[in-house]
Amino acid sequence: MSMRKALAVACVAAAVAVIAVVQLRQAGIIGSGPGLARADLGQGTATVGGPFTLTDPQGRTVTDASFRGKVMLVYFGYTHCPDVCPTDLAAIGEAVRTLGPAADGLAPIFITLDPQRDTPAVMADYVRLIDDRVIGLTGSPAATDAAAKAYRVYYTKVTQPDFPDGYGVDHSAYMYLMGRDGKFLTVFRHGTEPDAIAAGIKPYL
Ligand code: NI
Repeated sequence: MSMRKALAVACVAAAVAVIAVVQLRQAGIIGSGPGLARADLGQGTATVGGPFTLTDPQGRTVTDASFRGKVMLVYFGYTHCPDVCPTDLAAIGEAVRTLGPAADGLAPIFITLDPQRDTPAVMADYVRLIDDRVIGLTGSPAATDAAAKAYRVYYTKVTQPDFPDGYGVDHSAYMYLMGRDGKFLTVFRHGTEPDAIAAGIKPYL
């Protein structure tokens, strides 16, 4: 069974990618070309990433500093997402497996935007389906919101009567690659193929 089917539930994806691109352009994080213009970051005041304090599936407090010395691949989403998150997280899992032993230098991190439902136990069950090296992080609404803001993630809770619990979460969907020093390296767009993700990470490992 595909990840998509296994994890299917709620998430409104249609306009999210467009919104996210507009937001990132406005923030000066990406250019209008097909790829990320790293120069945009150097020239602007925009920064992506920063401190976070969250909880891992074992209930331990972890911060961004916990991952210093590893390259972080940071993705935001939620476990009830029907399509966007399962697609990207499956790709991340596949990329990790493609990297093989080199992935020891990588911390693939999935941070929930739906802490109300995504408890540490829920995150533990979810990441197990992706790859056991993926680290699922949750926290209080304030803590997850602070993490999302640090990464300039757009998200909003939306009422969806036909969804579980009557709501979904619209969200931007980028995979942020952060260096061993915690600084932004590059970003992969939603839908990037696993091989492309692995190839994009490999030079930094
Ligand atoms: Ni999603």
